Amino acid sequence: MLSLGNVNLADTYLFWKWLHIVAVISWMAGILYLYRLLIYHSERGRSQPSIHELLSLMERRLYRYITVPAMTVAVAAGLFMVGLAPQIGQTGWFGAKFILVLILILATLYAGKLHNTAAMDPGRLPHAKALRYLNEVPTILMLAIVALVVFKPF
Ligand code: HEM
Repeated sequence: MLSLGNVNLADTYLFWKWLHIVAVISWMAGILYLYRLLIYHSERGRSQPSIHELLSLMERRLYRYITVPAMTVAVAAGLFMVGLAPQIGQTGWFGAKFILVLILILATLYAGKLHNTAAMDPGRLPHAKALRYLNEVPTILMLAIVALVVFKPF
C-alpha cells in the first residue's frame, strides 16, 4: 500500500475524490439553475420590477455562494488527485476532459457576467431563446466530461 509517513495515500486520494464529486454536483446544480434564472429574468424581469429585484438577488447568491465556491473546490480537489496520481495527467481522456472543463469554467464565468448585466439592466440581457440555447452548453459539457471519466475511451 502506497503511504507517506503514516498517511495512507490511497485513503487521501479517495477523500479528494469524494470532495471532487460533491463539489462537481454543487457546481452543476448552480450553473444549470443560474442559466434557468437568467431565462426567467430575460422573459419577465424587463417588464416587472419586483421580479427583476428578486431574480437579481437569487442569481447573485447562487453565483457567489454556491456556484463559484463549488467550482473552485471541484477544480482544486481534481488537481490534488492529479498531484497524487500524476500518471492520470498523461492519459488521453484526461487531456480531453481538461479542455472541456476549461470551456465549462468559461461558461460559468460568462453566466456571472450575464447576471451582473441583468442586475444593472435586464433589457441588456440576450433574448430568452438565445439563453435557452446557451443553457444547453453546460449540459452537453457535463454529459461529455462524465462520459470521459467513466468510460476512459482513450
Ligand atoms: C480542472 C478540473 C478537474 C480536474 C483536474 C479533475 C480531475 C479528476 C480526477 C484526477 C479524477 C479521478 C479519476 C480516477 O480516479 O479515475 C476525477 C474524477 C471525476 N471527475 Fe473530475 N476533474 C475536474 C473537473 C471535473 C468536472 C467539471 C466534472 C463534471 C462535470 C468532473 C467529474 C468527475 C467525476 C464524475 C469523477 C469520478 C469518476 C470515477 O470515479 O469513475 N470532474 N476528476
